[in-house]
Amino acid sequence: MTNSSRAACQALDADDPLAPLRTLFDLPSGVIYLDGNSLGARPHAALQCAQQVIQQEWGHDLIRSWNKAGWFDLPNRLGNKLATLIGAGENEVVITDSTSINLFKLLAGALQIQAGKADGVSRKVIVTERGNFPTDIYMAQGLTEWLDRGYRIHLADTPQELATAVNAETAVLMLTHVNYRSGHLHDMQAVTKAAQEQGALVLWDLAHSAGAVPVDLHAANADFAVGCTYKYLNGGPGAPAFAWIAPRHHAQFRQPLSGWWSHQAPFTMQPAFAPGDGIRRALCGTQPVVSLALVECGLDIFAQTDMQALRRKSLALTDLFIALVESRCAGLGLTLVTPRQHEQRGSHVSFAHAHGYAVMRELIARGVIGDYREPHVMRFGFTPLYTQFTDVWDAVSTLRRILADKDYEIDAQQEAVT
Ligand SMILES: Cc1ncc(COP(=O)(O)O)c(C=O)c1O
Repeated sequence: MTNSSRAACQALDADDPLAPLRTLFDLPSGVIYLDGNSLGARPHAALQCAQQVIQQEWGHDLIRSWNKAGWFDLPNRLGNKLATLIGAGENEVVITDSTSINLFKLLAGALQIQAGKADGVSRKVIVTERGNFPTDIYMAQGLTEWLDRGYRIHLADTPQELATAVNAETAVLMLTHVNYRSGHLHDMQAVTKAAQEQGALVLWDLAHSAGAVPVDLHAANADFAVGCTYKYLNGGPGAPAFAWIAPRHHAQFRQPLSGWWSHQAPFTMQPAFAPGDGIRRALCGTQPVVSLALVECGLDIFAQTDMQALRRKSLALTDLFIALVESRCAGLGLTLVTPRQHEQRGSHVSFAHAHGYAVMRELIARGVIGDYREPHVMRFGFTPLYTQFTDVWDAVSTLRRILADKDYEIDAQQEAVT
């Protein structure tokens, strides 16, 4: 990478075909926002959308909006928009609940499908990585303990161990496609194929993939997927998550949170539960409509580009960041955590530093917003929809100044959210 001047970065911005998309976001001046991997920026349209939903649909139309404004169908309608970003088909995705809750539902459904097979009694293990996002592990632990039927979890520590951990005892391989801490990207197709050859079902967490890297669930022949909308999809803080089930499992799929929204005909008010058609059976109860409606504003922006173009820019941004940090901050105590190989990298870059938390706090104080994950890891998210090449240059300049001057408060007390 030879873009070793700010002018070179300005030239890259001037040539960037995605640059106009930045104007669709409300980005505060004086801030370089490198945390879209945690909370995406606000699309301008979200404000008008919130006003429409709150003032007109709720305020004026009241209960009529369930039909008139299509509130009831929102999980499916928005799920169809999201489907195009993850290689899913029509009526295969719902936007609903949180990622944690969707993990619980889909994991439970997957265990039940396995239990119904001829070799089901011997498939009692959920395999995942120790370095997976904690909620994924916690939800699996909660489910297996609650089931109390001999299910257990195997936490793999290395890629080699992961490759051999899936065997005739495995019910489900549950993985996060792009690791939240390191930014490591799994080869979804190869991993899925290898696990399915052992008879396992494969559930992918796409929290750091949807809208960040190209995903093709059908091409990978995946079984289940969940993910967030509040990160790269720019749905808003705490926006509902999504759930996908391969159509071949729809008919058998059952889940324990069988609320009335997953019923075949909720307004027949039957005392007996009958699961709804297709992906609707992954729903539970009434959705947070205001928050759900805003997800559309983020999704609509993706219709103006495609994941290949976003991936090209994402890799150019992360390549540039790695190269500039390693050249301009050499000898200042940073170690790259994220893989260098493109095919193993998501859209954020992590560097470890002995005083990572203190350095990140100082960066944020100076207007460069990333975040921190234990132990020692500073994360920098690159969102091709709105991150500029000059942002990368300026962020590295600030980082170099802080590190060179040792201008950070080592004893800084950690805030609740890091
Ligand atoms: C991989 C992964 N899964 C799940 C979550 C969060 O799940 P929830 O929205 O239920 O809190 C995150 C949050 O950062 C994540 O990185």
